[in-house]
Amino acid sequence: MKAIQFEKVGGPEVLKLVDIPKPDVKPGMVLIRNHAAGLNFADNFFIRGEYAIKPRLPDIPGMEGAGVIEEVGEGVEGLKPGMRVAAISQKTYAEYILASAKFVFPIPDNISFAQGAAFPIQTLTAWHMLYTCDKVRPGQTVVVHSAAGGVGIVAVQIAKAAGARVIGTVSRDDKAALVRQYGADEVINYESQDFSAEVMRITNKRGADLILDAVGKPTFEKGVKCLAPLGHLIIYGRGSGLPDPFNVARLMEKSTKISGFVLPVVYGTDLMRAGVEASFALMREGKLKMVVGKTYPLAQAAEALRFLASRASTGKLVLQA
Ligand SMILES: NC(=O)c1ccc[n+]([C@@H]2O[C@H](COP(=O)([O-])OP(=O)(O)OC[C@H]3O[C@@H](n4cnc5c(N)ncnc54)[C@H](OP(=O)(O)O)[C@@H]3O)[C@@H](O)[C@H]2O)c1
Repeated sequence: MKAIQFEKVGGPEVLKLVDIPKPDVKPGMVLIRNHAAGLNFADNFFIRGEYAIKPRLPDIPGMEGAGVIEEVGEGVEGLKPGMRVAAISQKTYAEYILASAKFVFPIPDNISFAQGAAFPIQTLTAWHMLYTCDKVRPGQTVVVHSAAGGVGIVAVQIAKAAGARVIGTVSRDDKAALVRQYGADEVINYESQDFSAEVMRITNKRGADLILDAVGKPTFEKGVKCLAPLGHLIIYGRGSGLPDPFNVARLMEKSTKISGFVLPVVYGTDLMRAGVEASFALMREGKLKMVVGKTYPLAQAAEALRFLASRASTGKLVLQA
């Protein structure tokens, strides 16, 4: 099978297209003929050796994909060869992927493989922040940072579907129209404007009930400043660096809270299934669409990862295998 492999850690230039044997199916696992692999911001950290999971060289990047089940391992129930599925796994920049049955989700016929590959990580991350870490509800004001990005554009839609007032932030004016198109009530360019002051202005000095922040250093403290009384800031990434140390006593000023989120905490739990079912229901109702910003052939993985890091991409980037 064709796969994207790297033998040493580094930037996208370390990636090579190789021809290697396809994996053998194992008990409890499913072999998938992968047609699309979703790119994640963390893939660049992974190939540099800076992600929580370290590469075992030579390794293949990729955390999710979508395709057709080719074989199921011993003990797997409810999944059969021929089913169209999306999966969370490892080494998904490849024509075949092996995934634990617990992380394989049949996808509806009206969802393309590219949309299927766009679904698992970004949608579940957005859904769990809004419904597991918090309980988004009508009338709340939710700020979604980097709102035109993969997680961002999904979070905007799910928060809007819940009846919240959604404020998206972006670094470039040309991303604002997309964020509005997917439901944001207001969009702030946080490079050219002080988003914290803007949130206070837009909310008549009340502030935001919930802020989803994967930008980190430049947004964290300003976010705490524009929380409403009892507001909640969830930090789930560090696109622009780790936040500075913070004195938690400041949370008493407005009875606010800060929490963190990483998707693997729900892996294999009932919560994960709940998130998958609720997200598919939103898709069926037309309230949630996967926004595939750009697709690339598998061989152009390095170019795709450079584009993701460039800050110019919108929605989900997908490799077609
Ligand atoms: N905790 C979890 O389980 C989890 C799961 C998935 C993703 N994440 C995190 O969520 C964030 C979004 O992930 P994604 O895969 O959907 O990527 P993405 O949003 O498609 O791309 C990252 C976005 O981050 C923003 N950004 C801010 N500072 C940046 C910088 N210095 N360099 C590049 N981009 C910067 C950019 O939007 P603007 O230019 O508009 O600012 C960019 O579009 C990432 O930080 C990722 O690590 C966390």
